[in-house]
Amino acid sequence: MAIALHWTIGLGIIAMLVMGLAMTHAPIPPAQKFALFQLHKSVGITILLAAALRLLWRFTHRPPPLPGDMPGWEKGAAGGTHVLLYGLMIGMPLVGWALVSASPLNIPTVLYGRIPWPHIPVTAWFGWTKAQASPVLADLHAWGGYALIALVLLHAGAALRHHLVLRDGVLRRMIPGLPWLGRPRPESSP
Ligand code: HEM
Repeated sequence: MAIALHWTIGLGIIAMLVMGLAMTHAPIPPAQKFALFQLHKSVGITILLAAALRLLWRFTHRPPPLPGDMPGWEKGAAGGTHVLLYGLMIGMPLVGWALVSASPLNIPTVLYGRIPWPHIPVTAWFGWTKAQASPVLADLHAWGGYALIALVLLHAGAALRHHLVLRDGVLRRMIPGLPWLGRPRPESSP
């Protein structure tokens, strides 16, 4: 379950980052851009639900221990990166949801063109007007996206270092059976 959720959410987030950047920065005709926004909202809310399930699973199922010879600072860095990733995995869709809720355009959110999804009364909660809230939330969502890109690269880079340089089996916990490349596999690694 942890592996399935990890890859579903991971690939979903990469697709969302590409979609988000394309929507806001690429010259896309209006009709396609509108469709892309609707898909971005639908996949984003799906990620929010999957991330909530992932957090619940993480709290109720202890992951296998990290290699015993891994230095303390590396364990700390991995733990810190994971906490930030969980924070953004939940925070990004919540801010996106708040953003469309506060949009002066008042476009309803209908997931995958079928399931009506309510908007949150963020403006009433914080006593803002839509004109005040909208740019602040858009900036927060954009900077969260850039931070998420940096964290995904760091996380993937660390996973590859474990597999290709340290050869300690950490990546094989998420991709069971992934072949060892280069030198023969060390006997002690899973
Ligand atoms: C994991 C989830 C999400 C990720 C990684 C993500 C990522 C992004 C990124 C990178 C951008 C481009 C920001 C920029 O450069 O200006 C963006 C824009 C946007 N996202 Fe998301 N997003 C997520 C979830 C959501 C959700 C759930 C919604 C709404 C229900 C949403 C609504 C929007 C909107 C409306 C924009 C355009 C903002 C603007 O016009 O300035 N996003 N998103």
